[in-house]
Amino acid sequence: MNIKTIVILVAGIILLSCGQKKDQQSESAMIVSGAEWLDTDGNMINAHGGGVLYHEGTYYWYGEYKGDSTYWNPKVPSWECYRSEAGGVSCYSSKDLTNWKFEGVVLKPNLTDSLSELHPSNVLERPKVIYNDQTKKFVMWLHVDSHDYAKAAAGVAVSDTPNGKFEYLGSMRPNDVMSRDMTLFKDDDGKAYHFYSSENNKTLYISELTDDYLKPTGKFTRNFIDQSREAPAVFKRNGKYYVLSSGCTAWDPNQAEYAVADSIMGEWTVMGNPCSGKDANITFYGQSTHVLKIEGKDDAYMAMFDKWNKTDLINSRYIWLPIQFNGDSIDIAWREKWAVDGIF
Ligand code: GAL
Repeated sequence: MNIKTIVILVAGIILLSCGQKKDQQSESAMIVSGAEWLDTDGNMINAHGGGVLYHEGTYYWYGEYKGDSTYWNPKVPSWECYRSEAGGVSCYSSKDLTNWKFEGVVLKPNLTDSLSELHPSNVLERPKVIYNDQTKKFVMWLHVDSHDYAKAAAGVAVSDTPNGKFEYLGSMRPNDVMSRDMTLFKDDDGKAYHFYSSENNKTLYISELTDDYLKPTGKFTRNFIDQSREAPAVFKRNGKYYVLSSGCTAWDPNQAEYAVADSIMGEWTVMGNPCSGKDANITFYGQSTHVLKIEGKDDAYMAMFDKWNKTDLINSRYIWLPIQFNGDSIDIAWREKWAVDGIF
């Protein structure tokens, strides 16, 4: 072997090892939908039906902290009511949307009082948190229900800091109607809105909140009447409002749909299924929960879904995908994995 061959060989080995290192590095910055996601302590992330709040340079992900056994509730004969103990609301923080630090259970369950709404035998789902610039409080709304989903109410909790502890203020049937799957949306003018599936999940209500975000003002609209839309996720882009939602098939996946409006309270124009690629007709086995605007990047929105595992709910997974726009239309294409910095 002459000196030239040796130099080429050595250079080749160095290049190869650099490439591998780069792959490993980028692998850790990848969002791999449906995979097991671990927090920075190496534990499974337990934040289902959740939403993400961006506050002062950090993302806070709030979700259902599910108990580790799933059972079927025979007291609900009309649908497959799989349940797990409601362990409160968890919070994880991140700067980059891939490395998540567990901040703890920020809305704690009440383990001792079986009559408490926060008792694990009840239902706590789809928590969402927004920040109120006037009161300087972090305000959480969530779906609060009895073990058989008959209560159909919305609970409210507040905290002075994003990572809790949240103080539970109680629940209500907003505007005196049922409230189950829900989300919050804070508009650019600081006004906030509660979107919730009502009338036995048949009609989606959009309800304006008071300035402190703690109650409905009484101004609301009924949308997608009798269309059974659930799992609403709302965002705004270029002055238009979007709502992404699922159909109503309990934990089983179905086709997503999105609608666009010029005004937050409607009228909404239904645009169809935003998903494309493998299993797009069943939302890649997922159900919408939130759309996040990624900070510091142009036109960067990410759709978040839950991939429910109905017989082992704590082992449900997460599907996060970038949204692409074509005029007012959106496309959420399936990707095995992607990096926030690679796409946006
Ligand atoms: C889904 C809903 C979930 C949960 C589930 C119970 O339709 O989106 O949040 O309530 O039903 O089966």
